[in-house]
Amino acid sequence: MSDQIKTIGVLTSGGDAPGMNAAIRAVVRKALSNGVSVKGIKRGYAGLLAEEIFEMGRRDVSDTIQRGGTILGTARCLEFKEEEVQAQAAEICKKHGIDGIVVIGGDGSYRGAQALARHGINTIGIPGTIDLDIACSDYTIGFDTAVNTAMQAIDKVRDTSSSHERCSIIEVMGRNAGYIALWCGIANGAEDILLPETYDYNEQNIINNIIQNRKKGKKHHIIINAEGIGHSTSMARRIEAATGIETRATILGYMQRGGSPTCKDRYYASIMGAYAADILCEGKSNRVVAYRHGEFTDFDIEEALNMEKKIPEYQYLVSKTI
Ligand code: ADP
Ligand code: F6P
Repeated sequence: MSDQIKTIGVLTSGGDAPGMNAAIRAVVRKALSNGVSVKGIKRGYAGLLAEEIFEMGRRDVSDTIQRGGTILGTARCLEFKEEEVQAQAAEICKKHGIDGIVVIGGDGSYRGAQALARHGINTIGIPGTIDLDIACSDYTIGFDTAVNTAMQAIDKVRDTSSSHERCSIIEVMGRNAGYIALWCGIANGAEDILLPETYDYNEQNIINNIIQNRKKGKKHHIIINAEGIGHSTSMARRIEAATGIETRATILGYMQRGGSPTCKDRYYASIMGAYAADILCEGKSNRVVAYRHGEFTDFDIEEALNMEKKIPEYQYLVSKTI
């Protein structure tokens, strides 16, 4: 452990994700066990600027591991992109005796962490997003819960869709990333999967597919549409007009971001939280924790942000075949 690090802060930023509380809990308890004090920062970078900072003890994270959302609250704080605001935030950290911060969030939040590191505050990021779109990590906190919530909801829509012999377009979250759509597409046995990364916007192909399947006697036709493509309701109207088959759109929305985290999310979040606290207490900075090729590891933030994540081609092909 570094004797320079006496107090660390922890915050959650960007979209919340089930499992963030397990990560906060692990950061707090691991740091305390390393002899380092912990301060909680409410509402992400917005709360840091407003100095919503409080001392955290072991008991402050009791009874939180099973809870969805984030006990610290989160925010999108656009002004944090400004250089002077970042400098001001670093001064606030120094004023509160905060030597380093664990930032739990997505790649936007990592940019904020990188800025704080530039201003002399040690930072470690943890991948917290339901979107699975952090290139350096095979796993992001919240994805497992979100994808299971979506899968269960889609099963239910499928029941009623089959009974009524309808076509259903089900929109799942993912503004820029199609991982929830891909996983649900495979796990729910959807007939069509539309991902922002691969969709060619050729609706005629979908229409032909629906007509052919109906001829073969299929009672339902499930289309999983990612939020990044959107327009599910107007797409449903066009498909109904072209096929003559009743077509409904269901937008799953924010239910996917809530709820009690799965075992996997609690477990990975706990290990990542502890890992982040340990490397921050060792004096490391400007790094992000990742799970890659079966191991917990860490990367330089710039390197992590420059890495590219693509929809795995074989997995996408499988989704189209089965
Ligand atoms: P996520 O962290 O889930 O990707 P956002 O992209 O909304 O979510 O980013 C969360 C927050 O991180 C933003 O509201 C802002 O406070 C901060 N942030 C995002 N981009 C930058 C940037 N380029 N520089 C500094 N801070 C940033
Ligand atoms: O947390 C990630 C995410 O859920 C994306 O899938 C989605 O596009 C975005 O957040 C929506 O966030 P909000 O509506 O809260 O800004």
